[in-house]
Amino acid sequence: MLLKKCVRVLAVAGLIVVGSGLCVSAAEEDMQKQIDGIIAALPKFAVPMREVGDRFQNMYFAAEGGNWALASYMAKYMDKAMNPAKITKPREHPNWANFYKDQFAPVNNAIAAGDMTAFTKEYTAVISSCNECHAIMGYGFIKVVKLASPADPGIDYKMTSKAGDVPQ
Ligand code: HEC
Repeated sequence: MLLKKCVRVLAVAGLIVVGSGLCVSAAEEDMQKQIDGIIAALPKFAVPMREVGDRFQNMYFAAEGGNWALASYMAKYMDKAMNPAKITKPREHPNWANFYKDQFAPVNNAIAAGDMTAFTKEYTAVISSCNECHAIMGYGFIKVVKLASPADPGIDYKMTSKAGDVPQ
């Protein structure tokens, strides 16, 4: 297909240059197919969003238990979980990046300060922003609600720590 297009372009230009550097070689085309295959196998939004959902829920219980490093860790990897979407959804990922940088910042600030009152206020408020993005992107039927217990019960949420304890 690519080769055909290439020949057509050259014909239109009135140039028939055999082996021209403008033509994509079969090997390059093959490589592109493999890259496309890898990209197609990478997660888009749905798979990492499940991780976002779980880490978001866990972070609350970490903060409540005074394990601020765990809360900070959850917030950090909640963001990183979305990295595959930089490649698979390059137009949509900036919406997530802006959300994390702007709307989510007050939650991160409260974690850094180890301030439970501020954390509770900002955490509750940001749930609306999560759901606003779902609505904007056509997923208004996915409504995040706070759980009564962590998504992952196999961690000690009550261990005392500071946000700064998370390795860089
Ligand atoms: C940039 C927009 C955006 C933001 C911000 C966002 N989401 Fe999502 N979320 C989506 C989209 C889009 C889907 C649907 C995924 C798909 O079909 O590709 C989704 C799906 C989900 C799901 C369902 C995943 C599943 O398949 O089981 C959960 C849970 C979720 N989001 C949690 C959250 C939480 C918690 C926040 C806030 C901390 C949040 N989301 C913020 C766009 C967003």
